[in-house]
Amino acid sequence: MSADPFRLGWFANLTAPNWNTAFRGNDPVENFFSGRFHVDMVRAMEKACMDFIMIEDSLMVPNVLGGDMEMELKHAVYAPKMDPVVTASMLAEATERIGIIATASTTFYHPWHLARQFATLNNITQGRIGWNIVTSSEDLAAQNYGLDVLPEHDLRYEMAAEFVDVAKKLWASWEPDAIVADPETGYYADHTKVHEVNHEGRFYKSRGPLNLPAGPGGRPVFCQAGSSPKGRDFAAANSDVILTIPNGVEGAKEYRADVRRRAEAMGRDPDEIKIFPVIQPILAETMELAREKRDRWFADKQHAMELQMAHMAGTMEIDFLQFDPDQPLPDDVTTNGHQGQLDIWRKVLGGRTIREGMSAMRIETVPLVGTPDSVAAEMDEFMQEVGGDGFLIFGQPVSREYINDITNGLVPALQRRGVVRTSYAHTTLRENLRSF
Ligand SMILES: Cc1cc2nc3c(=O)[nH]c(=O)nc-3n(C[C@H](O)[C@H](O)[C@H](O)COP(=O)(O)O)c2cc1C
Repeated sequence: MSADPFRLGWFANLTAPNWNTAFRGNDPVENFFSGRFHVDMVRAMEKACMDFIMIEDSLMVPNVLGGDMEMELKHAVYAPKMDPVVTASMLAEATERIGIIATASTTFYHPWHLARQFATLNNITQGRIGWNIVTSSEDLAAQNYGLDVLPEHDLRYEMAAEFVDVAKKLWASWEPDAIVADPETGYYADHTKVHEVNHEGRFYKSRGPLNLPAGPGGRPVFCQAGSSPKGRDFAAANSDVILTIPNGVEGAKEYRADVRRRAEAMGRDPDEIKIFPVIQPILAETMELAREKRDRWFADKQHAMELQMAHMAGTMEIDFLQFDPDQPLPDDVTTNGHQGQLDIWRKVLGGRTIREGMSAMRIETVPLVGTPDSVAAEMDEFMQEVGGDGFLIFGQPVSREYINDITNGLVPALQRRGVVRTSYAHTTLRENLRSF
């Protein structure tokens, strides 16, 4: 491998992934609900030796655009969406080496429930599981859980910090050698090595112990995507993997340096943290064909604008239909949801009108359009410039064709350059992440 190899993660959106935008209807609907599509997807990723698949999540069916659910359901944005923790269990059974990261919200889980589910997954996968720690960003989700509105943004992070603390105590409540399973005596576990945690904090109370051991590595890999100052502190303090959408090479350098600085100030070794900027490569046999493919994806402007609006409206809870689509987004629009995303979107939009901007928008760190070899070269150059650690490929719109472009086109091109792995060195996600 090259002196500076990097890692690859895959962003998996479980919202009818084979249906929306340009790939409408190229896979039977049953393949989504049966999980067939997801199993084929994760097997393709594993064959390509990608580090992990990250299953995103949200907890609502939005009705933000125009005050009803028409747009969101028409475009399969946010729903139907399968539960990532349950789906992770199915993907685990279908694979042997790839890491599987499932999203779960600290605002709506209880630490004991989450610690139990992820300990179960960590045991089932023998250390291949990760937890994408999110705090949720929609009042509509809060309303599904008995609240009227979400706790305020920074307070959600304070709750998340205590949540993680409790979960870690629960995972540590079984000492590694607590299970004796002695055939001589016929006795199973040593009760002196299983401990109550008796946590009583500002937000949570849990007696413990957990009712099973945490499994290999003592806890799942922690993944997070903080972009606000509070979010970056949280990520620096807790994450093994960070997902981010910085603005180009300079933004990626700034983000990486900032998070590493924060981690070091907290007494962590910054090399333990692997940062994955989001990319959405568009690939074809020639540059011209790749550009044509990109243009085809955006050819139906009305469709593309509606889809993007529905996506943005869900997380930001802004009804974009209230604005004139042939004018730029007004300056005074704000959100209590993903503030960082609104800032990114404003940058991407530039001075364009809502129609022009939304119908041609891609959420990516740098645009990558070309042949597998030309895109591989650009990724290599980007990574050497930024200093590490990997990319998160955001397959949107995702289809079997797109998955094939990545796993049988881009990844082999990267492997030929010697910049990504050709085999898994270890059996656990944490060890593989840290193997170079
Ligand atoms: C690549 C990526 C994936 C994300 N996945 C999810 C997700 O599945 N569910 C969710 O509620 N938030 C998700 N988020 C949002 C983050 O958790 C976070 O709220 C967002 O980056 C804004 O950061 P801030 O909360 O520090 O302002 C994701 C963000 C990024 C960049």
